[in-house]
Amino acid sequence: MGFQRRTRTCGEVRASHAGEVVSLTGWAHKVRDLGGVLFVDLRDRTGIVQLTFDPNLFPDSEAIRSECCMAATGTVKNRAEGTKNPKMPTGDIEVVVTSYSILGASKPLPFPVSDEEQMNSVNEELRVKYRYLDLRRPSMYRKLAVRASVIRRMRVFLDGQEFLEVETPIITKSTPEGARDYLIPYRQNSGLWYALPQSPQQYKQMLMVGGIERYYQVARCFRDEASRADRQPEFTQLDIEMSFITVDEVLSLIESLTMEVINATTQEFGLDKQAVTEFSRITYDDAMRDYGCDKPDLRFDLKLFDLTEVVKDSSFSVFRNAAESGAVVRGIRYPGGASLSRAEVAKLEEYAKEFGAKGLASLAVVNAADASEGTFVSKSGLAVKASIAKFFSAEDLEAILLKTGAMAGDLLCMVADEYLASCTILYRLRLEIGRRLGLLSSNRLSFLWVTDFPLVEWDANGGRWSSMHHPFTMPNEEDLHLAKTDPGKIHAQAYDLVCNGYEVAGGSIRIHDSEIQAEMFHVLGIDEATQQDRFGHLLEAFSFGAPPHGGIAFGIERLIMLLTDTENIREVMAFPKIADGQDPLMGAPSTIDAQQWAELGLRMSK
Ligand code: AMO
Ligand code: AMP
Repeated sequence: MGFQRRTRTCGEVRASHAGEVVSLTGWAHKVRDLGGVLFVDLRDRTGIVQLTFDPNLFPDSEAIRSECCMAATGTVKNRAEGTKNPKMPTGDIEVVVTSYSILGASKPLPFPVSDEEQMNSVNEELRVKYRYLDLRRPSMYRKLAVRASVIRRMRVFLDGQEFLEVETPIITKSTPEGARDYLIPYRQNSGLWYALPQSPQQYKQMLMVGGIERYYQVARCFRDEASRADRQPEFTQLDIEMSFITVDEVLSLIESLTMEVINATTQEFGLDKQAVTEFSRITYDDAMRDYGCDKPDLRFDLKLFDLTEVVKDSSFSVFRNAAESGAVVRGIRYPGGASLSRAEVAKLEEYAKEFGAKGLASLAVVNAADASEGTFVSKSGLAVKASIAKFFSAEDLEAILLKTGAMAGDLLCMVADEYLASCTILYRLRLEIGRRLGLLSSNRLSFLWVTDFPLVEWDANGGRWSSMHHPFTMPNEEDLHLAKTDPGKIHAQAYDLVCNGYEVAGGSIRIHDSEIQAEMFHVLGIDEATQQDRFGHLLEAFSFGAPPHGGIAFGIERLIMLLTDTENIREVMAFPKIADGQDPLMGAPSTIDAQQWAELGLRMSK
């Protein structure tokens, strides 16, 4: 071996080791040359310790450059009072070096990995291109460690519940999960293609036909869609499927798993999170009505209100026209918003317009004592201040205050629009209000099940119904009769697990009955030939004694983001893709050579 084997790690040396001769290895985190003495903070994965070099003993020590890899041997010494660093676990001591060697010299770095503060402003693409350097930061190591711990605990939990981990193919046939497939040409027969799986969905259902009963997999999924802050083209699911179960059994198992994994990981890493002890439940329809979205952030319980009935006879034409034309007038209370200036309210309106609002009408609610004379005052002593107040009768205003549960200090923000558009706008506005009021506390993980999703949604481009989840999702039994008449009203045995406004998991009970399946294909307008071509293997499998089954899949990255307070999914992945799906580190995607083109029987069309 070309270097002194390490006897301790950098992070473990303490005052109790004073006098001990230690050998350490790591990277030169910070190098400070004070003339009479050279200080090197040596870092390994466990922490950082200060080395001191006497330049007289080591005249060539200027070779020690930032981020070089090195080994050093020396004696642990208590630091003099006044030079101790209480911020470092090893700050009471230093190691006085007697010999060292450079194991790997380093060029100057493209960014200062030792300075977390400065790293915040480094261009992200550059960080991904030099990911191996970025990963040297203790904060990055920690995120990967949290991730590894979560996955390990998931496995332990499921193994303890008699689940079997099964790997399914990566090179396979396209499975419809709503995104575009990544395709791989088949060399032996040009014209044929494999696809990378968007999820192991069909395989896991066939495992149920195969009698596995309780399956899980830490599965890589591939979806050729634009990356977003919480979305990557390649990501990891904890994928689960079970036979002979009900929705309630799936939810309760996943609640136990989530509490076990999150609470133990929180403890292990000392994360600033309250223990997870409860899960709320809401149906999709109620979530849209109360929060305007199917992944509400329930760290604060500010609900939307609906004034359509109340204002339909008012003389405010914007509202009346909306109510008359079948649109809605809905809104949200902004506690404290009554004191916003006219300009601030205008800004809020601009914000709402970013999400499609045509306008934002508002009413400030104050105590009667704080209102000028002539202002409307309700029976309960609340006054309403607004330029649009004149369009409403005293009766209307009483009804508005009652319906919205308004309190003194509130700004009632309202939009008149189509139902779904009002949902989108008010969902965003609600989050903005929560943010402004400081209600999005990061130490609370607020878990919520959203259930009873619509089975299908209208695809206006395609002019047909398309699956909200996937075509094998089981409808609610009592809705089955709507298949021919009103498919949009069918609800499904589908559920999402939402936490702090993120969808962290989603799943459903599946159709295992070929008659129901045929009916659903009919609703979706998938003809016999397409059924056979795309799903023939699965339909045939279901004809051989298929058990009732269902399951769910967690987005692992999303859980880690929540646990580590990370807003971008790339931060919790070792080697992420950048925004356009490229990998600047490997230089992928890349060209292939002429022989590869020829072997694949492919030609560029231009
Ligand atoms: P779904 O498509 O809802 O369901 O995915 C399940 C969970 O995976 C995560 N997720 C993603 N994470 C990062 N980047 C992405 N591009 C991405 N897409 C999804 C989300 C989501 O909740 N086969 C079904 C599951 C089932 O029915 O059992 C499926 O894949 O957290
Ligand atoms: P206007 O009639 O366009 O001058 O708008 C009068 C007030 O109604 C302004 O405060 C607008 O912001 C508001 N407004 C206009 N359209 C809407 C709408 N669709 N929903 C809510 N408020 C609106």
